[in-house]
Amino acid sequence: MSQRLAVSTDQAAPLCCPEGLDPRRMPGHVAVIMDGNGRWAKARGLPRVMGHRAGVEALKSTLRHCSDWGVEALTAYAFSTENWSRPGDEVNFLMTLFESVLQRELQALEEEQVRIRFLGDLDALPVKLQSLIAEATQRTSTNSGIHFNVCTNYGGRRELVRASQRLAERVARGELQPSQIDENALAAELFTAGEPDPDLLIRTSGERRISNFLLWQLAYAEIHVTDLCWPDFDAQALQLALEDYQGRQRRFGGLQSIEPHALGS
Ligand code: IPE
Ligand code: IPE
Ligand code: MG
Repeated sequence: MSQRLAVSTDQAAPLCCPEGLDPRRMPGHVAVIMDGNGRWAKARGLPRVMGHRAGVEALKSTLRHCSDWGVEALTAYAFSTENWSRPGDEVNFLMTLFESVLQRELQALEEEQVRIRFLGDLDALPVKLQSLIAEATQRTSTNSGIHFNVCTNYGGRRELVRASQRLAERVARGELQPSQIDENALAAELFTAGEPDPDLLIRTSGERRISNFLLWQLAYAEIHVTDLCWPDFDAQALQLALEDYQGRQRRFGGLQSIEPHALGS
């Protein structure tokens, strides 16, 4: 793909953005439902798990391109609270895959200034994975580059229940009045606290649903669905999604188009 340097005086380093994309109108936060790994493998006569392995490469490439093109945060749905209902072999394969990928990629993440975090109920994950997650989170916590959030044992409903419980506990301790519970107070108890809401949601494999992903945070996200299965989601597919996003008018309930992430605005 042809690339050109899109020089922005607002950035410390110039962004390298493909022709056709406006570097000033990049989404600040991209969320992605990485779906279709199993179908990708089946179409090639491979076991489903080979699709998950191929999906890791698509995620690495998406992270690199988002970072290079000036996206500030990428949140990827890796394992839902409902995915435990899959056959044990597939669940075990996924947990082991997460462990080996984290182990293998941690140094590169550190070097590329990626700040990685894992969102979800992490206590239910295998102990080895939990300790790798803690190490990766800690070692990249002060990195200055893209925020990379991996939703692992994540469910939007469970996240909202957890946030409600945490608010209720603060009320019970006398730290908070019920009347002080507003949208900001609830958002501050979500796993995504501190991260702006996603501007763009990408879902692969043609499914038109959000499958319990970021139910609160996606309130005003633009949605891009592609028929590509996740392992086939490459730089060109990402560019198409971003071009689709840049062609949208975001009104947030009003009558005028608003661009919350326009540089220099
Ligand atoms: C997405 O691919 C990855 C996970 C949910 C872990 P799938 O495994 O859901 O693939 P399909 O939808 O069955 O093709
Ligand atoms: C959503 O995909 C979850 C992840 C990508 C991790 P699923 O394959 O689990 O979603 P459904 O079952 O098709 O809604
Ligand atoms: Mg699926």
